[in-house]
Amino acid sequence: MVDKNENTKSDGVGLKRNITLTGGIAITVGTMIGSGIFISPTGIIGMTGSVGSALIVWCICGFIAIISSLSYIELGLLIQEAGAEYSYCYRAYGSMVGFIVGWTNIILCKPASLAVIVSAFAEYTTAPFYPGCDPPNDLKRLVAICALLFISIVNGLSVKASERMQIIFTIAKLTLIAAIIIGGFVFLGQGNTENFKDPFAGTSSSASAWAIAIYNGMWSYDGWNQLNYVSEELIDPVKNFPIVVIVGMSLTTVAYVMTNIAYFAAMSPTELLNSNAVAITFGDRVFKGFAWIVPIGVACSTFGASNGSAFTAARLSYAAASNGHFPRFLSYFCNHERLTPLMAVVFNTCLGIIMLIPDSSSISNLLDYFSFAMWLIYFLTFVSLVVFRFKEPYKSKERPFRIWLPIPIICACISAYLVIGPLIEYPTPAYAIAAAMAFGGLIFYFPFVFFNLSLPFRLSDRIELFAQKFFEVVPLDSDKK
Ligand code: ARG
Repeated sequence: MVDKNENTKSDGVGLKRNITLTGGIAITVGTMIGSGIFISPTGIIGMTGSVGSALIVWCICGFIAIISSLSYIELGLLIQEAGAEYSYCYRAYGSMVGFIVGWTNIILCKPASLAVIVSAFAEYTTAPFYPGCDPPNDLKRLVAICALLFISIVNGLSVKASERMQIIFTIAKLTLIAAIIIGGFVFLGQGNTENFKDPFAGTSSSASAWAIAIYNGMWSYDGWNQLNYVSEELIDPVKNFPIVVIVGMSLTTVAYVMTNIAYFAAMSPTELLNSNAVAITFGDRVFKGFAWIVPIGVACSTFGASNGSAFTAARLSYAAASNGHFPRFLSYFCNHERLTPLMAVVFNTCLGIIMLIPDSSSISNLLDYFSFAMWLIYFLTFVSLVVFRFKEPYKSKERPFRIWLPIPIICACISAYLVIGPLIEYPTPAYAIAAAMAFGGLIFYFPFVFFNLSLPFRLSDRIELFAQKFFEVVPLDSDKK
């Protein structure tokens, strides 16, 4: 058996095993439940055409997320490193592929997803002040940036504080979800069952429409992999990792399917299609005088998901920097007591803010960038699991959790389909831009990693010195690199 605290860090500068079981569940559930469940039901029913088929899509997406996260348990326990997909691909395929995966996730996926969620937060917090019209874009952007800065300050100052914040916001969003489910089922109990009478009437027979619906649904489930970024910090990972995944994934899937049933109890498919914020329309109809709880709940939900995303994004940049794939100072920690990856937090905040600068109409482009690049990364990661079964030293390493091999193979096929399908059906320039950004990383890889060249005028030393003085950060202990 592998020692359950095999990778426990000794005292010194580095990530510590401080994340509890509850914290782990909050990071997973709290990042998965963000904006999607309150907004994307429209996109799904628009594609599939009927209540029954929309519910089936939510179940299929839940199933994909569950088998994917089960596969990730094996990886998370086999390689307990903060970089998740980046670390696995680095170990499985070598430095260059590892770099491209890390680069794409750090420069594109993490900031794009953070920008999308924090923009949804800004949308819901500003809307009540502008009844009947759209809040100004600059105001939304300002609110989004302020939220991001607040999250970064908390994440930069204390791991415990961000974990607690994550737990509180996860409880808030689960309370809203519970209220929606109870409200919907009371509505059903009062005899409002007409939308379920002929559930498959109008179902689309187009395979590509179903694929797009699944693609949309997977955004709501995204975040199923978040625990892998904290496998280095989770207390007693061998015991807690599978518990978090099993509890978190079943809780979220059941919550999503029941929430959709609740929506359909109160709204017909046509009404759903005409609403641009499903949960708000539902609240107005079911909660009446208490409808205000919905925007507050959605704001909490998106804020919590932003915090979860920012938390794991920092772990990823930290991991890439500590392997020398990103500038070394990004792995520096906030002094000897706080031990937060402060420079990585600052770096990710800057990237998130850059993503927020373009007009909010480009949010859907951000989603396209994210999904395309992320599914490519998932594909490589599932294949890496197969590679580790045959590649030493991982082949002979004891596995506390061993997934049945066909499962990651199925996951790899699904991911390949989710990368290629939309590309063929709806080719948009976003995919070419995403691919260019991913491979553009090689411009940095060859000089700075492969040939190990340093910047002129000892620039990197100067930057490191500035970071140490200005942010009072300290390097990672050399035995932990
Ligand atoms: N599922 C979340 C939502 O519905 C989005 C999660 C984005 N993924 C991430 N790794 N941050 O809003």
